[in-house]
Amino acid sequence: MRARVRFEPSGRTVDVETGTLLLDAARAAGLPVARACGASGLCARCALVIVDEAGGLVAASEDETRAKQRNRVSDALRLACKTTVEGDLVVTAEYW
Ligand code: FES
Repeated sequence: MRARVRFEPSGRTVDVETGTLLLDAARAAGLPVARACGASGLCARCALVIVDEAGGLVAASEDETRAKQRNRVSDALRLACKTTVEGDLVVTAEYW
């Protein structure tokens, strides 16, 4: 099954297989994602804003929640290296 991810404010859109990491979807769109831990779920720099999740998202894992707490990142953000695309999404980051 495929899902569509639109990145704002550029409007770049990619269609990916469900289960694709949000980090990989952003890369496929040619957008940089901040990170300092090699996508191992430690730094929380890859946190992105989910603007619309009409297609649904899986709840954050304990590891993701702990990484956000440890790095004082809002629980409302999602770590791109720990979040999979499960349906259509609209996503943004402060630095795009
Ligand atoms: S890249 Fe470090 S937590 Fe995602």
